[in-house]
Amino acid sequence: MTISNSPKKRKLVPPHVEALQPYKPGKPPEALKKELGIERFINLASNENSLGTPDSVIQAIAEGAKDMHRYPESGGITLRTALAERYRVKVENVAIGSGSESILANTLRAFLHDNDEVLTSEGTFIGLYVLVNGMGIKLHKVPLKNYTFDLDGIANAINENTKIIYLCNPNNPTGTIFRRAEFEAFMERVPEHVLVVLDEAYYEFACKEPDYPDSMTYRLDNVLTLRTFSKAWGMAGLRLGYGLGHDHLIDFINRIKLPFEPNILAHYAGLAALHDRDFLMKTVSNNEEGLAYFAKELDNLGMKRIPSHANFVLFEMGSEEETNRVYNGVLRKGIAIRPLAAFGLPTCLRISVGTMEENELVVRALKEVF
Ligand SMILES: Cc1ncc(COP(=O)(O)O)c(C=O)c1O
Repeated sequence: MTISNSPKKRKLVPPHVEALQPYKPGKPPEALKKELGIERFINLASNENSLGTPDSVIQAIAEGAKDMHRYPESGGITLRTALAERYRVKVENVAIGSGSESILANTLRAFLHDNDEVLTSEGTFIGLYVLVNGMGIKLHKVPLKNYTFDLDGIANAINENTKIIYLCNPNNPTGTIFRRAEFEAFMERVPEHVLVVLDEAYYEFACKEPDYPDSMTYRLDNVLTLRTFSKAWGMAGLRLGYGLGHDHLIDFINRIKLPFEPNILAHYAGLAALHDRDFLMKTVSNNEEGLAYFAKELDNLGMKRIPSHANFVLFEMGSEEETNRVYNGVLRKGIAIRPLAAFGLPTCLRISVGTMEENELVVRALKEVF
């Protein structure tokens, strides 16, 4: 290859890109099955929906496939209008994208410049860290407090360069939430020119909680809400997410986004999913059952478990050696769970809620490995 980062010549990539850790994908399931001599591989590492994708969505995609030779509807007005109706806002308050992570990326690209800084927590969504570091933007991380966003600590850390504050509620990977009173007190302390990005990727699993601060009930001009069809709607592989916020925020996000994301099938799928309350209810109740089961079983095993409001549960292993031993032991039994060193929690593991059968299999594997 003739292009390289030669020290003598002009650098190929900026230093902040060179400093990024390359993504290390796990082995593909087929390769793992062969290597381990197992017939079945279960992924409980990515907080996906183990109930699959709603039939209504699969049908809508099949129908939409006839239009695949076309570009998606310009401006995504039909899907944005459906979302606007769902949330009782204007179409100008809704952005759609290839996953909520894409909207997050576009938000950072649109609003950050010069000496702007991003402020967030340690132990939160790794996608945010990668995106900010990849832009060469300064990232401040405030330690978690009891595995939860420390909103007071974050407010104390606001400085004159803080431009974006990223909050994740429920938080991935801890599953914890901050509550209404904390959020309201926090927002009192955030200057109006600072944009709060509130990532609610796991909203549907937490919204029944009485003092969960659903950001859409506040309608604050400097808050951008991010939600997704990847989790509760079982559409992670299709890539569809949305952002809700003040017209002027959404306008800039829409100016910078790739014109034809999300893809045309995602448009069809999103419209169908919005009408499928049954699937959502099944997902939420499967999740409640799974979380209760994990709580009981992990407690029986004497694990330090963090009560979760999302579709996964985090537990503390005490040491990195023990974390790796358990992770590898469970993997050898054909089940992937998530080690969290890259999230800054090297002694923790995270298990996504699966079907009850999958939950029982992972608990059995944990018992054998302990
Ligand atoms: C907190 C959080 N935000 C965003 C995402 C990505 O969502 P999407 O699939 O909509 O890009 C994830 C996925 O794991 C997540 O945990």
